[in-house]
Amino acid sequence: MHRVGLIGMGIIGQRYIDIVQKTGHQLAGVTGSSAHSSNVYADLYDTKPFQSWNELVNSPSIDIVINNTPNHLHFEVNMECLKLGKPIYAEKPLGRNTAETKGMMEALKGKPVANVVNYNRRGFPAVRQIRQMIEAGELGDILLIRGNYLQDWLLFPQTWNWRVDPANGEVSRALADIGSHLVDMSLFVSGLTPRSVFYEKQTLIPMRKKPSGEWIKIENEDYGTLMIRFTSGAQGVFTFCQTAAGHIGSDMWVEISGTRKGLLWREREEDKIILKRYNDEDEVIGVEPSRFNTHGQFEVFSDFISWVDGNGPEGVATFSDGHFQVYLMELAMKSAETGTWQEVRFKG
Ligand SMILES: NC(=O)c1ccc[n+]([C@@H]2O[C@H](COP(=O)([O-])OP(=O)(O)OC[C@H]3O[C@@H](n4cnc5c(N)ncnc54)[C@H](O)[C@@H]3O)[C@@H](O)[C@H]2O)c1
Repeated sequence: MHRVGLIGMGIIGQRYIDIVQKTGHQLAGVTGSSAHSSNVYADLYDTKPFQSWNELVNSPSIDIVINNTPNHLHFEVNMECLKLGKPIYAEKPLGRNTAETKGMMEALKGKPVANVVNYNRRGFPAVRQIRQMIEAGELGDILLIRGNYLQDWLLFPQTWNWRVDPANGEVSRALADIGSHLVDMSLFVSGLTPRSVFYEKQTLIPMRKKPSGEWIKIENEDYGTLMIRFTSGAQGVFTFCQTAAGHIGSDMWVEISGTRKGLLWREREEDKIILKRYNDEDEVIGVEPSRFNTHGQFEVFSDFISWVDGNGPEGVATFSDGHFQVYLMELAMKSAETGTWQEVRFKG
């Protein structure tokens, strides 16, 4: 049993309380944004409060760290864990830019420490099955991947969140926050390598009202469509939007078309893969849902623990994958600024 410390007790942080317990580990401490909130959450979840993330990471009573802080804190927290050689399970995006993510890759050199970035779609049993089907050649060669990730929680200008706040330096939102899940999952299942990207984006709600009443000009995008040309000749088209009315929560789906067959998977119906055959009716393949209804997080966290216990990084996105997503995001932003396709020249 590992002693797990949780940093950041927001939406995703509180989901991990359950996952840590269900995987049979000990919630050995939490920390929030203040001493007061750390005490409140520690009381609520019957664990030890730490007065700062630094104290938690450095504590000898914590073996493993889960970093659920807002994006502007990912770098500092992750770096401290890497410095100490503590296994780290970090939220996406891995960092706000490649200067940060490269720094983490440098810090990892020569350190055999388990490092996962929570691209949790990789954990859905259906997604893993799709990967196996593609690997086994069931679809033939992949020709086209089309995907959507839509939400509506930022539809109204009165909705404020750190994600939209220019002060936090998030150059991309739709792509970095939600689109990267779709792109990571598509690469994971298809095994394809991006050759070049083209990005069209828009801030559909250009002004937002802060809780103080002040109206702020928003810099990062609500909407984006990313096109990818893969080295194999396959094409990808991915659309993300956080202001799409009616798409409550997380609405993500992907359709993959191959030279033999195609398939469609929608996260909301995670227990079904729709197999598409030439000139024939669809076939519905039933799949187990993610254990405990955790959107793949139980599976990804279990695989992270398996890595901590000495096995390989199977089924998870590593910091290297997270670094690649941030690289693609920066390339996409360059494409949007210049209106041109950008070649992928990733050196790791
Ligand atoms: N993998 C997923 O599906 C998924 C889903 C949601 C969020 N996320 C990621 O999780 C992270 C958190 O997102 P969220 O939606 O939970 O945000 P949130 O705002 O709900 O939670 C962040 C929490 O961190 C706390 N915090 C701020 N500064 C802190 C500090 N110095 N020390 C400790 N805690 C601090 C805040 O008080 C807040 O409770 C983001 O990076 C986001 O991209 C991932």
